[in-house]
Amino acid sequence: MGRRGVNAREVIPAGVKLFSVPEGDLARHPCFRYLLGLEGFARSLRKHRNITLLGSTGSIGTSTLEVLTHLRDYFSVSSLSANGNIDLLEEQVGQFRPRSVAVLDEEKADLLRKRLGRTTEVLGGEKGLLEIAGRDDSDMVLNALVGFSGLRPTLRAIEAGKDIALANKETLVVAGEIVMEAARRHHVRLLPVDSEHSAILQCLQGEDLSAVAKLIITASGGPFLGYSTSRLAAVTVEEALNHPTWKMGAKITVDSATLMNKGLEVIEACRLFGFPPEQIDVLIHPQSIIHSFVEFTDGSVKAQLAMPDMRLPIQYALTYPDRPSAPYRKMNFTELSELTFRQPDHRNFPCLGLASRALQMGGTAPAVLNAANEEAVHMFLEGTIPFTSIPEIVSAALEHCTRQDRVDLEEIFRADTETRQAVRNLVESSSVPLHTTSVRQQASI
Ligand SMILES: NC(=O)c1ccc[n+]([C@@H]2O[C@H](COP(=O)([O-])OP(=O)(O)OC[C@H]3O[C@@H](n4cnc5c(N)ncnc54)[C@H](OP(=O)(O)O)[C@@H]3O)[C@@H](O)[C@H]2O)c1
Repeated sequence: MGRRGVNAREVIPAGVKLFSVPEGDLARHPCFRYLLGLEGFARSLRKHRNITLLGSTGSIGTSTLEVLTHLRDYFSVSSLSANGNIDLLEEQVGQFRPRSVAVLDEEKADLLRKRLGRTTEVLGGEKGLLEIAGRDDSDMVLNALVGFSGLRPTLRAIEAGKDIALANKETLVVAGEIVMEAARRHHVRLLPVDSEHSAILQCLQGEDLSAVAKLIITASGGPFLGYSTSRLAAVTVEEALNHPTWKMGAKITVDSATLMNKGLEVIEACRLFGFPPEQIDVLIHPQSIIHSFVEFTDGSVKAQLAMPDMRLPIQYALTYPDRPSAPYRKMNFTELSELTFRQPDHRNFPCLGLASRALQMGGTAPAVLNAANEEAVHMFLEGTIPFTSIPEIVSAALEHCTRQDRVDLEEIFRADTETRQAVRNLVESSSVPLHTTSVRQQASI
């Protein structure tokens, strides 16, 4: 055993190439370029690193701080951020002693500034968030913000040359091509925190990309697996927030219940690994033990298995490609009663199909899908609309999209703002829910 908690023998020898350079066209494959870009990460545990954690008070944020506690010999915390939960943020400041924190809510930022005195700098508003995302005092930014609000800070951190551990999948959903290109331009390494994408990255290690047939993303199916649309229409917020295998923030928990989360993850996988939608499948696996698969052209399949615990993919993103030991629950195969799989139910859960449709349309369509979904989930959580109105609203928003090629950032921000307004208008004006059949037809895949 070397330094506390880390077994030096588990670390890949210095200088080992994780990927060999393929010949011909494959050298230009976006996945190869992505994986090659990660090579500079080798030996990440050799160097003490400073981390900025955006969204430290959330589910991923608090899990990340647990990981950083266990890996405290290798990482320090430069900055933390919250939307408004300053009580928890204050506790975190006491424990991790960051140089600065950002609080989106300006009034709460003032309050925290008074509480902390001169010990820690407190920045307020989006300006403060962007400031800590790009500051010189950190090497890496872990973005655990929720929703569209994560996009600007990711771009700010990339422009400042920070490596990124990305939990905020919405960043890649709404502006994936722009973000990946910016990462390449600034020689920034972007590691996925999402367990499925972490699993795929692990399965791709050392493989010849021309032999990859399919990426297969697993989904738990959420709390309403097997429900009919009529039963879904009556589900409560409390039931939707009761996920069977994962403890997560409210927005992603509802997304898991509608299967929109899996739709967002398909888009995220396309953008991150550069494989086309036809090479990405989704499989329901209720036990959440296999976090994803890669199928190869010879019929072999690699899978990554672990207990459903986000601290594992968080640690992998922070320490890639090293695998320090982790004090979390390990797999015990004799305790597993079964591992089961089934096809997603597109009829009763149209969100997955709607996300595929947005991906095929390209341009601003994924941003429209995301904005409509964020607004609809918010309205469901506050009790304004039933669960089944979420796909209705997303479908109605996508109706106004046309197929586009490349778009710029300004168009994406405009699409986001306009879609949110359109959704609010739609809900205010309509007294009856939209017909489910129109959603099913649109989501036909
Ligand atoms: N949770 C998981 O297990 C999981 C797994 C895979 C991927 N992800 C992804 O990770 C991201 C975070 O998820 P989560 O479950 O951790 O969310 P969460 O529990 O809701 O936490 C969100 C964090 O962002 C802050 N925040 C919220 N709105 C903000 C805004 N507009 N501007 C700035 N900060 C804001 C919150 O601050 P306050 O606490 O002050 O409100 C909190 O710190 C999401 O993109 C999700 O899809 C999560």
